[in-house]
Amino acid sequence: EWTMAEFRKTKIAEIREQVGDARVICGLSGGVDSAVAAVLIHEAIGDQLTCVFVDHGLMRLGEAEQVVSLFRGHYNIPLVHKDVSALFLGGLAGVTDPEAKRKFIGKTFIDVFEAEAKQVGGADFLAQGTLYPDVIESVSFTGGPSVTIKSHHNVGGLPERMNMKLVEPLRELFKDEVRALGRELGLPDVFVGRHPFPGPGLAIRIPGEVTREKCDILRKADAVYLEEIRNAGLYDAIWQAFAVLLPVRTVGVMGDFRTYDSVCALRAVTSTDGMTADIYPFDAHFLSRVATRIVNEVKGINRVVYDYTSKPPGTIEWE
Ligand code: XMP
Repeated sequence: EWTMAEFRKTKIAEIREQVGDARVICGLSGGVDSAVAAVLIHEAIGDQLTCVFVDHGLMRLGEAEQVVSLFRGHYNIPLVHKDVSALFLGGLAGVTDPEAKRKFIGKTFIDVFEAEAKQVGGADFLAQGTLYPDVIESVSFTGGPSVTIKSHHNVGGLPERMNMKLVEPLRELFKDEVRALGRELGLPDVFVGRHPFPGPGLAIRIPGEVTREKCDILRKADAVYLEEIRNAGLYDAIWQAFAVLLPVRTVGVMGDFRTYDSVCALRAVTSTDGMTADIYPFDAHFLSRVATRIVNEVKGINRVVYDYTSKPPGTIEWE
């Protein structure tokens, strides 16, 4: 990987040049991109960087703990862990429109960072793990009219209302290149190989209103699904797999009782950059095992369906 070694050197020089002796604040999302950006920037400017893990309450099961231990334990990079789930979930109450959710979450992230930047004595720069596909998809849909499909929360419109300048060292990279850079920087394989996770988190996997209770239900279903995928040895063959909690209740029967609970949809796709995707063709036994486990183990879900839509015409996330 001599090209990534070169990239690392060049970027480190660029970051130093851009930032000078100013302070930088970096938001960690739990994903690979922001982690790689943070480690790279830390290598460039050391303790001029403050990493903030904004825990919006929309993370997957165990995710917050994993990020905190990676940074504090493995890298010894100081990390501020902010539990702002009440702020996020409070603001999401009653919000059902997908773009309204994204805009609120993006705006609230910036508010939290700005407050945190003041705390560290004034940061002039905000670092983000924005990738090339994020930049394109927020601008327009390739080949079509210039229409915003989704406002990715880490790009598109936000910088204008922000007092900080952006440091985005991964802007030219695709996902596989970010992973290669992560390995180059010594991130553990299990972390580098993780499926992408969107900035707005579980909020865009809960069509309709997002509540703490729904997040808890979805986290459990998602964990069961991913555990089965790992056990079957399929994790690395899949670009992204996750559960979606639908705002639909259906009738079922458990033992001698009627149930009236939510539907959970499972999604799994293969892709190289997230811009197009094919569904992952699980065998029926695998899916039925996951469905059975979810209905048995997750209170609040009594039906499981599989999403067979490729991208396009579907998008990977449901919102
Ligand atoms: P879609 O749903 O647009 O997703 O097909 C393409 C890829 O982007 C991820 N995604 C996001 N990532 N902030 C992010 O950092 C976002 O707001 C966001 N929305 C979608 C999605 O998980 C998939 O990998």
